[in-house]
Amino acid sequence: MHGTAPSRLGLNKTALTGAPATMAGVSNSAKIIGLLHPGEMGAAVGRCLTGRGHQVLWAAEGRGPDTAARAKAARLEDAGTIAALARRAEVIISVCPPHAALDVAWAVHGFSGLYVDANAISPGTAGEVAQMITESSGRYVDGGIIGSPPERPGTTRLYLSGADAGTVAGLFAGTPLEARVVAGSATAASAVKMAYAGWTKGSAALLLGLRALAREQGVEDTLLAEWELSQPELAGRSAGAARSALAKGWRWVAEMEEIAATMSAAGLPDGFHQAAAEIFRRSPRDGQPAGDEVDRVLAALAGS
Ligand SMILES: NC(=O)c1ccc[n+]([C@@H]2O[C@H](COP(=O)([O-])OP(=O)(O)OC[C@H]3O[C@@H](n4cnc5c(N)ncnc54)[C@H](OP(=O)(O)O)[C@@H]3O)[C@@H](O)[C@H]2O)c1
Repeated sequence: MHGTAPSRLGLNKTALTGAPATMAGVSNSAKIIGLLHPGEMGAAVGRCLTGRGHQVLWAAEGRGPDTAARAKAARLEDAGTIAALARRAEVIISVCPPHAALDVAWAVHGFSGLYVDANAISPGTAGEVAQMITESSGRYVDGGIIGSPPERPGTTRLYLSGADAGTVAGLFAGTPLEARVVAGSATAASAVKMAYAGWTKGSAALLLGLRALAREQGVEDTLLAEWELSQPELAGRSAGAARSALAKGWRWVAEMEEIAATMSAAGLPDGFHQAAAEIFRRSPRDGQPAGDEVDRVLAALAGS
C-alpha cells in the first residue's frame, strides 16, 4: 500500500460532479456525514452521530451483509456508492481496517469537504492521506480511536488533531464518544493511537510469542505455574490475547506495521512491532469462540 500511494498522488484527479460540500462556517448544527465504513467501530460511531441528529450516509457498494446489517441498525442511509456519498456529504469519516485507509481516501478523490481519518495509521501514512485530500481542495482532520465501540459514555475517546479538529469534536458533543483535541502537529492524534496500541496490542503479541516458546520447549506448565506465583494476571491475559488474535489479528498486522513505521520514523527500534505483526500474521482468522483458542493460536505461531 505504501508503494502505491505516491502514484495516486501524482494522478490527475477527476473532480466529483454535483454540488460540492460547503464547509465554510461549519457549526454544530445537523450535518450530512459520510461514514466509511460501518464496521464494528464505524457503525457505533455512526450511531453516535445519528443520535445527535446528523444525517449519516454509508455506501453499500463492495461491502458485505454484516456491514449492511450494522448500518441498518445504526439508522444510516445508503448512498449506494462512495462517489455518491462524497457528492452529498459535508464531512467524511474514515473508520476502516488500517491497511485500507489510503484506498478509502483515494476513493473520495475530488471531495472538497472535511475528511477525518480515524484509523490506526502512522503519522506518516496520515500525512499521505492528508496530502490526497488537500490536493483535491478538501480539509483534513487526523483522528485516532481508543476504547471499545462507544455504546455508553466513558468507554471511548476520539483523539483529533489539525486546524479543524474542534469542528469535528463538536459533531460528537453529548454523545458516548468523547472527542479530545490533541495539541501539536497535524497528525498528533495518530501518534497518540500508535503509542497507545503499541503497548496494548504489542504486549498481547509478546505474551503469545512467549507462551508459544514455552510450549515448544516443553515447559509451558512450569511457566504457567511460575506466572501463577509471580505474575498471576498473565495466564488470563495470554488467553485473551489468543481470542483477540483469532478475531482481529488479520486487521492488527497492518496496525503493527504502522506502529513499526512510526517508531522507525522517530529514530526508535521498530523490531518489537515488526515481530508483533508477524505474530498476528501467523494467527488463524477465526472469530468463533470454541474454548481452544490458545491451542489453535500457539500451534499456528509455531507452524505446527
Ligand atoms: N473494533 C474496535 O474495538 C476498535 C477500537 C479502536 C479503534 N478501532 C479502529 O476502527 C477501525 C475499524 O475497526 P472495526 O472494528 O470497525 O473493523 P471491522 O469491524 O473489521 O470493520 C471494518 C469495515 O471496513 C470494511 N472493510 C473491510 N476491508 C476493507 C477494505 N479493504 N477496504 C474498505 N473497507 C473495508 C468492512 O466492510 P466489509 O466487511 O463489509 O467488507 C467493515 O465495514 C480500525 O482502524 C481500528 O483501529 C476499532
